[in-house]
Amino acid sequence: MQVKKAVIPAAGLGTRFLPITKSVPKELLPILDRPMLQYVVEEAAEAGVEEVIVVTARGKESIAAYFQPRPELEKRLTETGATDLLDSIQHASTLADVSFVIQEQPLGLGHAVLTAREAVGDEPFVVILPDDIIDHQPGVISQMLEVSDQYNGGVIAVEQVPWEVIHNYGVVDADDRGNRTHFVRGLVEKPAKEDAPSNLSIVGRYILPPDIFDCLEQTPPGARGEIQLTDGIQLLLEEQDVYAYEFQGTRYDGGTPVGLLRASLEYGLAREDTRESVSALITGLSRKLADY
Ligand code: UTP
Repeated sequence: MQVKKAVIPAAGLGTRFLPITKSVPKELLPILDRPMLQYVVEEAAEAGVEEVIVVTARGKESIAAYFQPRPELEKRLTETGATDLLDSIQHASTLADVSFVIQEQPLGLGHAVLTAREAVGDEPFVVILPDDIIDHQPGVISQMLEVSDQYNGGVIAVEQVPWEVIHNYGVVDADDRGNRTHFVRGLVEKPAKEDAPSNLSIVGRYILPPDIFDCLEQTPPGARGEIQLTDGIQLLLEEQDVYAYEFQGTRYDGGTPVGLLRASLEYGLAREDTRESVSALITGLSRKLADY
């Protein structure tokens, strides 16, 4: 599949991050000094995506502002010779052609993807959730595109989770095809451990054909009035092959405060410019642990 477009849903309420998300979009919360959104745009660009469509909401205008130029700031940084900082503020807008569509109400992930229908048009595309941050080179979207090419189908990223917590996740009912790849027979939302068809939980990366839009149009809203992407994919399975792929990489749950803190610490250790100070911070904290 030739995939040139990515949809990044960023119109949710972010309730697990309240009160900060009252005025700051979750997707702009940082891992160290860069917003989560930038990490996923970088992952898309690395995979050859040229156009990123961010689904946003009224009141979340700062998301678009992040990708716009800031002439006075750029002038100031040029004058003071702060070229590294200048590069850092210009970088995000050079990664891809970023555009925005508004989801008028947070009616679920499936509804957010459907909002991008016109912008995507009649071609396969990827969906990346900006609060699932996955660290690996090559990125997960690159890995998934290879699977999609090999099997000529849609692809959902999955990872194994302990059976004890399976009731918190969407999982796939799938048939192992080797090489971390499974043929998907069905999707189950938050099953009880006894009913779970597998412990492969669905993670926020999808490669989908444009036919998903018709499926989402036909998907009835669930209990909270939300249209779920997994329900749409369940319908898609009636006409198209979809594979689940156990990606390589470490996933951080950027949807929760502690998950994001963990990501900051680990990225801080991995990054050369912050390694020493983050390492000293963790060592100091671990000494203090006994006091708590
Ligand atoms: P989540 O399921 O994490 O929902 O959405 P949320 O609203 O952001 O956060 P909580 O659960 O209330 O804490 C995953 C991604 O899908 C987007 C979110 O912005 C997030 O990036 N999303 C979710 C939408 O764009 N629209 C929706 O209606 C729901």
